[in-house]
Amino acid sequence: MSKEILYSATKPTGRLTLGNYIGAIKNWREMQENYSSVFAIADLHSLTIDIDSKELTDNIYSQFATFLAAGLDPEKSIIYCQSHVKEHAELAWIMNCFTYFGEASRMTQFKDANAKNKNISVGLFAYPMLMAADILLYNTNVVPVGVDQIQHVEICRDIANRFNSKYGETFVLPKGVTPKTGAKIMGLQNPTKKMAKSGDNDNDVIYIEDDNETIMRKFKRAVTDSLNRIKYCEEQPGVSNLLTIYSVMKNLSIEQAEKDFEGCGYGDLKTRTAEAVIEVITPIRSKMIELKSNRPYLDELMKKGALRASKIAQETLKKVYNKTGLVPLK
Ligand code: TYM
Repeated sequence: MSKEILYSATKPTGRLTLGNYIGAIKNWREMQENYSSVFAIADLHSLTIDIDSKELTDNIYSQFATFLAAGLDPEKSIIYCQSHVKEHAELAWIMNCFTYFGEASRMTQFKDANAKNKNISVGLFAYPMLMAADILLYNTNVVPVGVDQIQHVEICRDIANRFNSKYGETFVLPKGVTPKTGAKIMGLQNPTKKMAKSGDNDNDVIYIEDDNETIMRKFKRAVTDSLNRIKYCEEQPGVSNLLTIYSVMKNLSIEQAEKDFEGCGYGDLKTRTAEAVIEVITPIRSKMIELKSNRPYLDELMKKGALRASKIAQETLKKVYNKTGLVPLK
């Protein structure tokens, strides 16, 4: 039996974080053994925010290098940049035409951004439709993401379903999956909010590129709680977040992690969590820095990935165009 298809992506609006690693990349590495996997740098999505062009280029190479350094294998899996496969933008247009204004307006990410900023681009509004195109182009069965992206996978299913109902079976309906532990890593300074690439407070976020000293310093400053117990519970978001990070880094259950800290204070929790992160991140960071300095090598891999991705994407788009009644160029 052929393997199921897995698709996922990160958007290069900033440097990758520990949240991206735990919520997404770590699982991708494990899942790529059992799925035909496609991993993308969603660079077109990055243009939905105001981003400096040099910074964007840098982020694209950094994220691509991090994928490889973290163990995504370009021989086993397809790894590529979204903008190198033009079918994404084309299918996104079709997706726009099958999405209701109301349902796109209800997307949490859009609503949050809209509440914060005055000048929201149409691109940001259409973000989920481009993401739907990403997923559907590759006949995806499974989309491993953090909790924050599940709503976007759901709308993708809705759009695909709508299209299939009108034109007959065309798209595979994808399923979003999240890791059991670590599907939403919180900020170190504000543990009630997601750790995000583009956060306002640098101390809130651990970047894969942070050096060991910085990682230790940020963890030591992490906000904990006042119950003086190292227990995973709703009343202690800071402690629970650290326990989550520790347990994922050490491959332990939360209960085992709690046991490791029996009789310990918050200081121990912070230091040992930092040490656990450093142990996992150091080899990834070193490899990433080495790869990042070799752009011709990354360019070559990007090209190979794009060629493989294009073949699949072209097939799907052709099928979609045919179904809609557009006349193919003869
Ligand atoms: P992005 O770049 O925001 O995040 C990449 C992945 O990391 C997960 N993630 C987290 N998981 C746990 N804790 C956190 N604090 C945390 N922060 C981020 C995200 O859930 C995501 O899985 N729209 C996507 C990129 C995208 C995509 C796609 C994903 C574009 N096309 C198609 C899947 C399929 C995004 O913004 O990812």
